[in-house]
Amino acid sequence: MPSRDRHHRRPIIAANWKMHKTGADAGAFFAELIQALGNEPRHFAVVAPPFTAIAAAVEAARDLPDFAIAGQNCDWRASGAFTGEVSAPMLAAAGCGYVIIGHSERRQFFGETDESVNRRIRAALDAGLVALVCVGETLAEREAGQTEAVLTRQFERGFHGFSSEEMLHCVLAYEPVWAIGTGRTATPEMAQQAHAVLRGLAHQLGGGEVAHHLRILYGGSVKPDNLTGLLAQPDIDGGLVGGASLDANTFAKLLRS
Ligand code: 13P
Repeated sequence: MPSRDRHHRRPIIAANWKMHKTGADAGAFFAELIQALGNEPRHFAVVAPPFTAIAAAVEAARDLPDFAIAGQNCDWRASGAFTGEVSAPMLAAAGCGYVIIGHSERRQFFGETDESVNRRIRAALDAGLVALVCVGETLAEREAGQTEAVLTRQFERGFHGFSSEEMLHCVLAYEPVWAIGTGRTATPEMAQQAHAVLRGLAHQLGGGEVAHHLRILYGGSVKPDNLTGLLAQPDIDGGLVGGASLDANTFAKLLRS
């Protein structure tokens, strides 16, 4: 059960299903999740299904309080001849409240840049969505001692041109690329160090209020047995979870960690 006194930054546990689950799978997941959760206190939850399962997830989560559905990406244009793309207003109309932006898999495999991330954040906010913005260094960058420089570049370019007010409609996720899907979690101390850097950047760019309120989630092999240690760190305000979010009972455990 959530035990920390952190009224100003309620933790968020976000499930990134990546390219897993159909609409029918989403329905089954939520039926099981609702059973597992009961009425016990838990963290705020976000679930990001593939686009084709969003409608089913929105429907299944309709009566769940403190719950939002997210897209895993959005285009920066509202509509047009862009085959295969989905826009932020479309996600909002489908019932999403959040959208993940700049996930490392998008950056690595689909050519996304800090500049396109910046445009996508703008589109998300214009559509009334909370932008869940991902940053994080690769193993090579960490080993070369560039972690702080990489985070600074991604943060400054990603949020370039945004007001403090707008930054308050964003959630940040620190996902070290070497910890994603590898079973290799950053230690709570390592993650805290990176989160402190990010909160410092939020202070520089957005001021004290943004630094105080901005939630910074950790992502990368989060599991029920390591989440509590991560959440105990002062600047870790939740988790962005891949593999362990696919099972409803495991996700329920994470929501109560
Ligand atoms: P895993 O939890 O599977 O390592 O994935 C993390 C992630 O990329 C969440 O966005």
